[in-house]
Amino acid sequence: TKTLKVALLGAGNVGAQVARILLEDADVLAARTGARLELVGIAVRTIDAPREVDLPRELFTTDASALVRGADVVIELMGGLEPAKTLILEAIEHGATVVTGNKALLAVDGPSLYEKADAAGVQLSYEAAVAGAIPILRPIRDSLAGDKVTRVMGIVNGTTNFILDQMDTTGAQFADALAEATRLGYAEADPTADIEGHDAAAKGAILASLSFHTRFALEDVHCQGITSVTASDIAAAKDAGFVIKLLAIAEKLPLPAADKGAAGEARQGDAGESGYGVSVRVHPTLIPRSHPLAAVHGAFNAVFVEAESAGELMFYGRGAGGTPTASAVMGDVVSAARRMVLGGPGRTETTAGVLPVLGIDAVTTQY
Ligand code: HSE
Repeated sequence: TKTLKVALLGAGNVGAQVARILLEDADVLAARTGARLELVGIAVRTIDAPREVDLPRELFTTDASALVRGADVVIELMGGLEPAKTLILEAIEHGATVVTGNKALLAVDGPSLYEKADAAGVQLSYEAAVAGAIPILRPIRDSLAGDKVTRVMGIVNGTTNFILDQMDTTGAQFADALAEATRLGYAEADPTADIEGHDAAAKGAILASLSFHTRFALEDVHCQGITSVTASDIAAAKDAGFVIKLLAIAEKLPLPAADKGAAGEARQGDAGESGYGVSVRVHPTLIPRSHPLAAVHGAFNAVFVEAESAGELMFYGRGAGGTPTASAVMGDVVSAARRMVLGGPGRTETTAGVLPVLGIDAVTTQY
């Protein structure tokens, strides 16, 4: 069996879970990919920092650059712009496959990173960057590639959904709900990015770019957070049959006549579609309590997509937290490993191993 050397950058909430899965599920991953995914090292800032998962000390290193140079697959989960960007560029130059969950970096530098990866013929995947465990980027990029998306509305920040939901259902104060979100590991180290909407805006830029086949950066996203939402706003919304959610919205709108010149053209997405622009924004939004997005509670995320042929689609799941986000990272790692082993999209079916089929008597009918 082939061996792929995997370097992990970062051992925070998500990184530690990715390391655990790579170590614990090594045999399953080898069966699914046809390669042993050997975790060769974990780059961290401080070797002895307390961590969620007990990991072999000898894997830790503070020399991220050396680790990257010796790897076939680089998983970047450090977050932040630097040194993450430099290390990803080193990985691309060196020909390693890159998997990242770094929405802040992609929202700012995504276009140049994708171009460099394409030019070098290396894969760069980032399913974990938007809505944690929810498979959303690949469905938009691949499954909807033959359709025309008209609108995407996402609850893409677990911390703010948790806070607004606590305020709505229990009457909790903003500060107490935020403290709980931090304790549960949903909030970023500095929760400003969550509550001011910057984290949702970064994810909105990524969603909009893939949905409308054009490039949006963080600066293109109008952004308003939830710090000015009060308990009385929430109560008034409730009385009127609405719930307040922080949404990232990207929608195709007809260009006003005055904008149909050069500036309008520049914002256009799909070639061949003229007269449209895309509005990308994050703000607290009133949603009727009967809308599917109103039923998204706690730190859960959901992305509601409208496309011309598909109609309405909704993707729901855990959008934050170490283990759910690690699931998305590992999906990218396994897909990448399959392509590296087989030189194509990889095996589409796994037939190794057979589980016994259970008769109806063996299952309970109660859900
Ligand atoms: N702080 C983010 C959230 C984590 O609350 O959704 C996932 O990006």
